[in-house]
Amino acid sequence: TSILVLNGPNLNLLGTRQPEIYGHTTLADVEAMSIEHGKARGVDVVCAQSNHEGALVSHIQDARGTHAGIVLNAGAYTHTSIAMMDAIKGAEMPTVELHLSNVHAREEFRHKSFIAPVAIGVIAGFGANGYKLAIDALLGFLETR
Ligand code: DQA
Repeated sequence: TSILVLNGPNLNLLGTRQPEIYGHTTLADVEAMSIEHGKARGVDVVCAQSNHEGALVSHIQDARGTHAGIVLNAGAYTHTSIAMMDAIKGAEMPTVELHLSNVHAREEFRHKSFIAPVAIGVIAGFGANGYKLAIDALLGFLETR
């Protein structure tokens, strides 16, 4: 089994971007941690990041037939992207929506998610540790399916 950990816009700046909100862990750290965590669970974790909405849509489309599911931190596209919502729906990919910060404790515009209605569930507010939680949640879902 392999799963895709997909990060969206500005997450390449993790560690230096508003560390009071997103922490000091870098994207490279998060990806290494996710791969390690997958290994311990016996699954291959493949990581990708893009700042471009269309590239993220393509990653979701291409995941079909390659990966069993997706852990997705869509960044700000979470709150705007009907295209990513449609891609998840169209690819029929079990997807866990993930946020480092607790988006519900922040600005009103972060409360709306286009991803959540097509996700199997949402994890938010646990910082970098959320990636491990999301991987476990996805694997738990895949096991009982
Ligand atoms: C984020 C929350 C989004 O609202 C924001 O635009 C991000 C990061 C998070 O991980 O907390 O880029 O997805």
